[in-house]
Amino acid sequence: MKINHKVIVFLLLLISSAIHAQTKLNQQGEALIDNLISQMTVNEKLGQLAQMRWSWGDSPQAAATQKLYKERVKQGTLGSFLGVHGVALTCELQRIAVEESRLKIPLLFAQDVIHGWRTIFPVPLAEAASWNPDLVGQSARVAAVEATSAGIHWTFAPMVDISRDPRWGRITEGSGEDPFLGSAMATARVKGFQGDDISAGNTLLACAKHFCAYGAAEGGRDYNIADMSLQTLFGIYLPPFKAAVDAGVETFMGAFNEVNGVPMHANDFLINKVLHQQWGFSGLLISDFTAVMELQRHGIAATPEDAGVLALNAGVDIDMESDIYAGELASAVTDNRVSEKVLNNAVARVLRLKYKLGLFDDPYRYHNLEREKENILTNEHRQVARNVARESIVLLKNDNHLLPLSKTIKNITVVGALAADNDAPLGAWRGQGRKEDVITVLQGIKEALPGARIGYEAAYDLPEFKNQDDIKDRIQKSVPETDVFILVLGETARMTGEASNRSSIELPGEQNKLAQILKRTGKPLVILLMNGRPLALSQIAHEMPVIVECWFLGVEMGHAVADVLFGDFNPSGKLPATFPRVTGQIPIYYNHKNTGRPPVEDDFFRSKYLDVPWTPQFPFGYGLGYSSFDISAPVPEKQVIHSGDKIVVSVHVKNTGKYDGQEVVQLYLRDEVRSITPPVKQLVAFNKIFLKSGESRSIQFVIQPDNLKFYDSNLNYKSEPGWFTIYSGADSENLKSSRFQLVN
Ligand code: GLC
Repeated sequence: MKINHKVIVFLLLLISSAIHAQTKLNQQGEALIDNLISQMTVNEKLGQLAQMRWSWGDSPQAAATQKLYKERVKQGTLGSFLGVHGVALTCELQRIAVEESRLKIPLLFAQDVIHGWRTIFPVPLAEAASWNPDLVGQSARVAAVEATSAGIHWTFAPMVDISRDPRWGRITEGSGEDPFLGSAMATARVKGFQGDDISAGNTLLACAKHFCAYGAAEGGRDYNIADMSLQTLFGIYLPPFKAAVDAGVETFMGAFNEVNGVPMHANDFLINKVLHQQWGFSGLLISDFTAVMELQRHGIAATPEDAGVLALNAGVDIDMESDIYAGELASAVTDNRVSEKVLNNAVARVLRLKYKLGLFDDPYRYHNLEREKENILTNEHRQVARNVARESIVLLKNDNHLLPLSKTIKNITVVGALAADNDAPLGAWRGQGRKEDVITVLQGIKEALPGARIGYEAAYDLPEFKNQDDIKDRIQKSVPETDVFILVLGETARMTGEASNRSSIELPGEQNKLAQILKRTGKPLVILLMNGRPLALSQIAHEMPVIVECWFLGVEMGHAVADVLFGDFNPSGKLPATFPRVTGQIPIYYNHKNTGRPPVEDDFFRSKYLDVPWTPQFPFGYGLGYSSFDISAPVPEKQVIHSGDKIVVSVHVKNTGKYDGQEVVQLYLRDEVRSITPPVKQLVAFNKIFLKSGESRSIQFVIQPDNLKFYDSNLNYKSEPGWFTIYSGADSENLKSSRFQLVN
């Protein structure tokens, strides 16, 4: 095909002008920033690197702190706030900064907008169970619209920490155990928060956190050490952070923990060398809350000044809450323990963010009272929350196809205090979420079946989950008038989140006993799980016929659960993390190594337990629906490929059930032989598709050269010639396979 050369010239001019425009913007911005820095005193520079949490309330202490911080803003020694929100207050503080300070540098207002601001969405682990990055991106976009309407510029999200230990309370905030799924969710959330144009005025600076390996806390105890091979660090824990950089994330946050003996807030290698130099990240890294001070507790800094020097030189640009940079480092700069170059570089990173948001042009652009009133908890936002919540639900068991329930049912008894609880659905890190905004499970069921008798028994107390003494009698009395029991079990919101680690992840309290009581009635029984982490379910998994993982789904919890229970939505969620049988199996994850003695039934001397099977209760990627799907073996387009080639793999899918529905077709890869032991499989692609009943489709996956690579003993990221097995299926265990060969 002859291409018109004029077209080529035009396209080249278009591209160069775009680059030039971007360069022109940078040149203009850089000139403003250089000029500002040249005028700033050391204290003003260190002030830009200070972020303090606002002190709300009208107590004498709060009033004194507020007065002090306003004075510091005026002096130019405080550059950003954590926890300030609302147009009135943000406007008041911004006015002091841009009208009363010497250099009139605008402030940044940051907040943890993790899964919604006022419209609360499912906790991030639940959102990851949707395996629908587009939908998760919509969730982040709604959160950004609402939070920016409240004057907030910067969210400390997405949390992209991989976790293989569900005892760790913060597993609820991430996307589970897998780097590929975690990278897809990180990308979607960064783009959702930051939008297509960061200067649009309804965009939040995103923050990839917590850099890094925070989820590998030993024993699942928050803040504990992370100690691992560099191959595991680079191959498992770092990819979602790299994905966030590739998605254009503007900021990072350091992790509290050490990695292999070096606390992250003093980790020059991982921050300056890997994040900035190797990955080319040009944004800013903020410390976690008082983490700079904590370097003394780690035992690698003798004084606050030493801690500050270590952190700033390691690439920690902003000191959140320790106030060491602003309070202790002026002399360190004079003594050149922190060079002017390092200091100016950190200040420039802060000023660039303020410039990118357009705050130098219009410092009040995020402070609009009308927006604040109109954009919060709208019906449109609730609908998005309901869509995300429905797709996050994972059907774990549905013996005899009891679900979906018919809407003609006349008598349902709902059991369990969580069913009526409007707190738990908000989960951890609930922004400005309010309990009164929540549709509880009980409300959702009642709304779905207005003509039915919906009985309710709290059955246990919260948060102990101790059964009522007379619950057996009460349940027995309700049997004659009950067609179906719906039992809600799980955790309270406070059992996951920061520092909320559990030494055992079985159902808390006496919930297993309660399930037995209900089972013994002989009536149809549906168990709904409301929890923020994977649970060890061996006690109920075998005996209970129907189990639905409902997580903490946010304000639309009750509607989403009812949509699935009564068939208005065909569940499509898949587990983003393995569910063990018992706590003692932890760590247990799908992409494990084979070892020299992989477990088999008929050989005692293998890697397994005496008292439980070695397999999980429910594997990564697992989830049922009301339909059934036939997924073919993967068909690679060729048997042999060369280094640097990509390879197209086809999979044929048929909806063999009677319901229209979605299926998440997953593709895994096994490098059969390589110089660093390979995992038995790793997720390399997935596609969530909708098929009508009886419909079939062939879908193509592209395996990229990078999917075949790993970090060798010298940390080179490379592939090696040899055979690869490809697996296709609807979870990480029930798979069909084929092979291809990589030759040099
Ligand atoms: C907390 C969390 C971090 C959060 C920060 C500010 O300690 O570790 O995720 O963004 O403090 O609230």
